[in-house]
Amino acid sequence: MQKVRKAVIPAAGLGTRFLPATKAMAKEMLPIVDKPTIQFIVEEAINSGIEDILIITGKSKRPIEDHFDSNPELEENLKEKGKLDLLELVEETTGLNLFFVRQSYPKGLGHAVLQAKAFVGNEPFVVMLGDDLMKDEVPLTKQLIEGYEKTHASNIAVMRVPHEETSRYGIIDPEAKADEGLYNVRKFVEKPDPSEAPSDLAIIGRYLLTPEIFSILEKQEPGAGGEVQLTDAIDTLNKTQRVFALEYTGERYDVGDKFGFLKTSIEYGLTHPQVKDDLKEFILELADELEEKDGAKNEAVGSLEEEIIEE
Ligand code: G1P
Repeated sequence: MQKVRKAVIPAAGLGTRFLPATKAMAKEMLPIVDKPTIQFIVEEAINSGIEDILIITGKSKRPIEDHFDSNPELEENLKEKGKLDLLELVEETTGLNLFFVRQSYPKGLGHAVLQAKAFVGNEPFVVMLGDDLMKDEVPLTKQLIEGYEKTHASNIAVMRVPHEETSRYGIIDPEAKADEGLYNVRKFVEKPDPSEAPSDLAIIGRYLLTPEIFSILEKQEPGAGGEVQLTDAIDTLNKTQRVFALEYTGERYDVGDKFGFLKTSIEYGLTHPQVKDDLKEFILELADELEEKDGAKNEAVGSLEEEIIEE
């Protein structure tokens, strides 16, 4: 059996949900407290045993390349000033086996992944989307690799979402469970209307795929939204070789829209050694202020406050 060594991270999206911040800047560089979201993804890959990573970029994405490069001037400056803790942070993102390719036209996720064909060759590989940050005892990408080691087949991470949100995701039509947490799948459907969704199990941006996906992507016609959809190609792959769905039970932080991004920033801030104490105090004050203003405590703020007090 081939070892899973390669990861593909599509990062060519236009980031329109974050305009104007993303007019001239890659959305993947927006930081959660002090770390760009794409760095979380790269760390998940490395913590899962991945050796080579291809990032698929587009216009305005040069800062991603620079972020993962060395910066001798900055490093020298930090060394001179004795700021060794900061130097360590800066050096963490260099020396990785990262490769870049550009997707010249935004024709959809399936088309973006097709740009990885030469890099991947004839090996199983993972695709990791940047809109979801995952936190679990075993990194989700590692769980998928372990799924491949058991089944020798593609497997895709899924998670239950509220029924009214199915049109934001690829949704699976699950069959009987094949193994603990692994479903056989009848069908993969991209962004179905809730009235037509075959289940509430949504694809959450981590895929382990066999290389046969590429010959399918080469012929894939545009689907939902007029784009070449990875989900459609996976549905075709599932007709000739099994594609399992792995139900993820860890934490998922959606950083693909403004509210999710803000919530994630607060959650991470509450564990960040430099800001957690001030942030807790601030939230408690804010909760009191809101209570005074609205008369009743907002439910979300109230439960966050309880969490903080319990600690
Ligand atoms: C993409 C996929 C979709 C998946 C989602 C997960 O959609 O096409 O199947 O459920 O990522 O985040 P996008 O969010 O790029 O529209």
